[in-house]
Amino acid sequence: MRQLSQASFLVLLSGTGTGTIFNVFATPTKTSLDAVFTTAFTWPTYPDLQYATALPRPSETVIYARPYSELESLAGPQKTTAWASIASPVDSDDEFGNVAWSSLWASFTVDSPPFTTTVTPTPIPSSQLVKPTPLPFSIGKGETDDLKFPRDFEWGFAGAAMQVEGALKTQGRGPSITEVIIGRSPPGIVGAGPPDISVLNYFLYKEDIARLAALGVKSYSFSIAWPRILPFGYPGSPVNQEAIDHYDDLINTILEYDMEPIVTLHHFDTPLHYLDNSSWQGYAHPEFVDGFVNYAKIVLTHYADRVGTWITFNEPNLDAALLGNWNASYHVVMAHARTVHFYRDEIKGGGKWGIKLALSSGFPLPLDPKSSDDIALTERQLDFLIGYMANPIYLGAQTPSSVIETLKSEAPSYTEEELQYVNGTADFFGVDIYTANYVTSLAEGTEACIGNSSHPSFPTCTNITAVRENWRIGAESNASPSTWYQHARTIFKYLHTKYPTAGGIIIAEFGWSTFHEADMNQDQARTEFTSTLAFLSVLNEILKAIYEDGVKFKGALGWAYVDNWEWGQYNDHFGVQTFNNVTLERSYKRSIFDFVDFITGHSES
Ligand code: NOJ
Repeated sequence: MRQLSQASFLVLLSGTGTGTIFNVFATPTKTSLDAVFTTAFTWPTYPDLQYATALPRPSETVIYARPYSELESLAGPQKTTAWASIASPVDSDDEFGNVAWSSLWASFTVDSPPFTTTVTPTPIPSSQLVKPTPLPFSIGKGETDDLKFPRDFEWGFAGAAMQVEGALKTQGRGPSITEVIIGRSPPGIVGAGPPDISVLNYFLYKEDIARLAALGVKSYSFSIAWPRILPFGYPGSPVNQEAIDHYDDLINTILEYDMEPIVTLHHFDTPLHYLDNSSWQGYAHPEFVDGFVNYAKIVLTHYADRVGTWITFNEPNLDAALLGNWNASYHVVMAHARTVHFYRDEIKGGGKWGIKLALSSGFPLPLDPKSSDDIALTERQLDFLIGYMANPIYLGAQTPSSVIETLKSEAPSYTEEELQYVNGTADFFGVDIYTANYVTSLAEGTEACIGNSSHPSFPTCTNITAVRENWRIGAESNASPSTWYQHARTIFKYLHTKYPTAGGIIIAEFGWSTFHEADMNQDQARTEFTSTLAFLSVLNEILKAIYEDGVKFKGALGWAYVDNWEWGQYNDHFGVQTFNNVTLERSYKRSIFDFVDFITGHSES
């Protein structure tokens, strides 16, 4: 090692500039080891900070239907109450008074929210809008660089009343069946906790919308809680004025931020009145259809003027998958169809309608796509997953024969007249996709299972596996789903071909709960990459499906806009934002920036 000259040493000590230490060595020779030490080093400055911005959009108000003042009578006579304002708690003479309302809640103990007024949003500090470090990789680089999402592509994030609102027993909300079947804090579930407060979106919705708008998110998908609108649930019981005002303001707030509301009428929160022993959301209850349609009419007369995209039911096909109650789907299909007919024929609205079918247990694919057996069994699996509901709604077709032949009288079936009535009552194909898996035959054969209703694989009688050729289908999340992007185009093409609609496919939910995110601190959760990979890989396949496979798409909505109550627990973090469970303060995760950047980077400027 050469000696430092005195002059150089002084430079070093005086610290006159970053990197001067390397200048102190004399006459470098390129070939010697000394060259390493003699190359001048200058600390580079960092790239300029990039900030997320709200989307520049023309604020034109689209009117989809006449206002409530002109539609009111279509919902039939309704009386309205605001329970919070009922003066006397001793009103036992009143069938729907405070005493009656309290008795609905008699068997529940519910935590009260920390505050009970709507929070006025504060501007999002610019420090929170700083984008994360650019990705070290580029999804779709070269393949989809020039592909753009259609101008009317609806994209954004979703939540659901039962999971995000909290304020469960507040402002007149009645209990739902979910409070009973899931309970407040199911024992034995990791991260178990009640939905009583969750992220308190009921009072923080303005903040939630402001936070999404600040990042340029286009659509906010939420559900209206039937037991808020009608605490007692059934026709003739009073409408809760505070709930009507709440959702009215929620919709107005979304529009004020130039975002688009996507509204689901039912997301697993059927009022307690419809509790029955055979279907987990009361679908089998004899009064379910009339009850739902009455509720839907109240909602639609109030809000049809401002909402362009409506969804009747969230994942009603889970009922059969979970409880084996296939017949109850008939009620759901009829309730859906009556609602859409009411909207089209009486409200005469210009909005679009759909229903969200679940593929949460996994979109089935043939284990060996060259095997006709595996293909047939995959079709069979799809018949039982979605076909029994999709056939009547999209095709005006009877329940698939595989379902009828296996379930016999337990299978839903429709008269010709009903099929005509139901046919075409969805303008677009709504689907939630979280994972995929492979289908092959059972070792003992399909027929042996079909003939034995106590077989564990009955009634699908297929063999489902996540593994093919020594590899799991994809990376594993904290919940059971795995990544599925490599099959996305096949899945989209299948749905587009089998159930074509004028409006196209909307992936009404897709998302990712990062492995063990609940054990991470906030910074770890905010910066992790797997949720970005899960979202972007699917968005990229959507682009290819649109341009290379001719698949019509309406949009794609990430689940969820914030971590939330995942049906009994807070352990699966699906959100693109975290929240502090003491202050309820939200923080963006990097995945929301990456999602937005991917879409805006593939949008017409
Ligand atoms: C779909 C359901 O609609 C939603 O409620 C749930 O949180 C997500 N799947 C994630 O499991």
